Amino acid sequence: MTAALSKALSINDLRRLARRWLPRLVFDHIEGGLDDEVGIGVNERSFGSYQLLPRYLVDVSRIDQKVTLLDRTYASPFGIAPTGLAGFVRDGGDLILAEAAKWANVPFVISGHSTSSLEKLSHAAGGNAWFQLYIALDSAVTRDMCRRAEAAGITTLVVTIDVPVHGKRERNIRNGFVRPYRPSLSATFEALGHPAWLWSYLNKGMPVFENWSPYIENGADAMAVADYVSSQMPSVQTWHSLKAIRAYWPGKLIVKGVLHPADAEQAISLGADGIIVSNHGGRQLDRAPAAIDAFVPIAASVAGRTTLMLDSGVRRGADIITALCLGAQFVFVGRATLYGLAAGGAAGVQRAIDILRAEVSTVMSQLGKPRVEDLGQDVLFHKHAAPSVVDRGTCQVPFLQTAR
Ligand code: FNR
Repeated sequence: MTAALSKALSINDLRRLARRWLPRLVFDHIEGGLDDEVGIGVNERSFGSYQLLPRYLVDVSRIDQKVTLLDRTYASPFGIAPTGLAGFVRDGGDLILAEAAKWANVPFVISGHSTSSLEKLSHAAGGNAWFQLYIALDSAVTRDMCRRAEAAGITTLVVTIDVPVHGKRERNIRNGFVRPYRPSLSATFEALGHPAWLWSYLNKGMPVFENWSPYIENGADAMAVADYVSSQMPSVQTWHSLKAIRAYWPGKLIVKGVLHPADAEQAISLGADGIIVSNHGGRQLDRAPAAIDAFVPIAASVAGRTTLMLDSGVRRGADIITALCLGAQFVFVGRATLYGLAAGGAAGVQRAIDILRAEVSTVMSQLGKPRVEDLGQDVLFHKHAAPSVVDRGTCQVPFLQTAR
């Protein structure tokens, strides 16, 4: 591990290192939201609006952060969310993330827009791989991707529903990081200040959306594959599409991008095994609520009837714990591990996971909760809670009645 990496104490430190490694046009792709980019700040601030109420004089000499989720036990209550185009961050970026997930025994959700094929990534993740599907315009392609995922040994499919259209990502448009990928003059000059990244990129060339390559003629270059992907999505997707997938996908089916309780109900009624409450890290609807805020009414209406997960804005172990206390069974991180990837390749992703793990352990110790299943509303403190909700030393979130 480099000295800079070992000095990184937080995800934010990794973010600063990532900023140094990456040219602006790739850093902006990771970092950016859309429109005014208020959604990103909303995610992070909303986590910060919760406070945790410690409990002391509990034996916390052994903290166990293992979680059993969808019939498998993972070493931590968080995993790696699907993040497309990781090959732009580092050569083989998706493979590095997959191997890190195997090393850490956490789930790795292969992005539908990964730059290594789902077959290679499933192999690299060694049983920790889930596959995230973007519904294609051609339903035969959608179905074939599911067939390939099953053949590759993947048992959990994540259908992302929050991309009915592409959001206006103004940073990407200004930088030229949109089809036909012609970097602006200023982004090109700025990239010259990142020679190591540039050298690697020029040696390898533009990464390919490998999941989509089988559907166009052999030998098509990266740009032709990108053009094909653009012809396939965003596609017309409705609840009928989900119903059709449920009919042929034999494994666990997770719906990602749910923010409305009625959509959570609908997903469950169509046979989904779980949902990921997410606003795509503030990248789809800038005025969407923070995922952690949307989570509360969803948990109130469907907790106990499905596997409830969350992502968007997680930067600290305390964020993960807050979500678990509110009833999430699992949490995903997107940018956190991408910052690690940029900051130091495999060692950087491991560093990101280690940082979050250590923070999760510390917060569990402070709360007097040595096991994940002990976490609940009793250690959530809400500043604005009426004094009447304080009962025998616990302070409950007044607007959430469902218990974990
Ligand atoms: C994403 N996300 C995403 N989601 C998805 O379903 N498929 C994808 O291909 C991508 N690609 C992607 C790329 C990049 C660069 C980012 C930052 C995000 C969204 C991702 O899965 C997750 O919802 C968010 O990243 C969570 O927010 P945080 O942790 O980044 O704040």
